[in-house]
Amino acid sequence: MRDLNAETITQAVVSTLGDSVDPRLAEVIEALVRHAHAFVREVGLTEREWAEGIQFLTRTGALCTPTRQEFILLSDVLGVTMLVDAVNNQRGATATENSVLGPFFREDRPQHADGADISDELPGIPLIFEGRVVDHEGEPVAGTLVDVWHSDAEGHYDVDVPGQADPAMRGSFRTDEQGSFSFRSIRPASYPIPGDGTVGELMRATARSLMRPAHVHFLIDAPGFERVTTMLFPSDDLYLDADPVFGVKQSLVAAYDEYAAGTGPHSELTDGPYTLLRHTFVLEPTTGR
Ligand SMILES: [Fe+2]
Repeated sequence: MRDLNAETITQAVVSTLGDSVDPRLAEVIEALVRHAHAFVREVGLTEREWAEGIQFLTRTGALCTPTRQEFILLSDVLGVTMLVDAVNNQRGATATENSVLGPFFREDRPQHADGADISDELPGIPLIFEGRVVDHEGEPVAGTLVDVWHSDAEGHYDVDVPGQADPAMRGSFRTDEQGSFSFRSIRPASYPIPGDGTVGELMRATARSLMRPAHVHFLIDAPGFERVTTMLFPSDDLYLDADPVFGVKQSLVAAYDEYAAGTGPHSELTDGPYTLLRHTFVLEPTTGR
């Protein structure tokens, strides 16, 4: 293993893996080395670019804390997060598709009764949500744990709303015997992904937008079924085709129906205009993976 050159060094590195290495680890490391070397050869990576890359990754790691994960954001904007999802979650045509979890899910969320108002009186257009959870044959899945979280009318999650101490616009629900659950809140807005770190630098350097289309997040967990991590986007959002984290799927674009004051099926719930969103989530049985 001497006098290696730009071609022979790849096999030399791969051949250093010992015979006792876990076969899956060996497969992953070998492919990582082959692709990393191919990348260096393809772009003719300069020494200065290599050093800048090391610095970028070092600064990305330094930004990570228990409440901020810049590496996951980097994975998101490079499309890796949604690619991993696509490779691992190939569902039937009718099953609800996944999207990214994102950074704003909180374990310490409140439990709510069906129909609860989760807005904590934050200002915005009232949103009324009516959902059902069914299996692939359309039968209701009772007792499903459904987590919901979304931003306010300015695009802020509760943790970023000035003066907002309590959890808001989030919580968990249980479906009833019909597989139904519902809540009231305020309509979410489009918002930018965090732009003050290394990911922001990358996005500006590559002339990309930080703006995500508005959405409501859902995490749907029922025993015997694949867990669904997803979100629903308004069909009229300006940013549907430019989502920086590639989370938009056509099946997740939903009608956020707008009603004038005193009209529509829930005119009694509010004095002014409101938005009604209805959606049926379809679960797939667990495959045992
Ligand atoms: Fe979000």
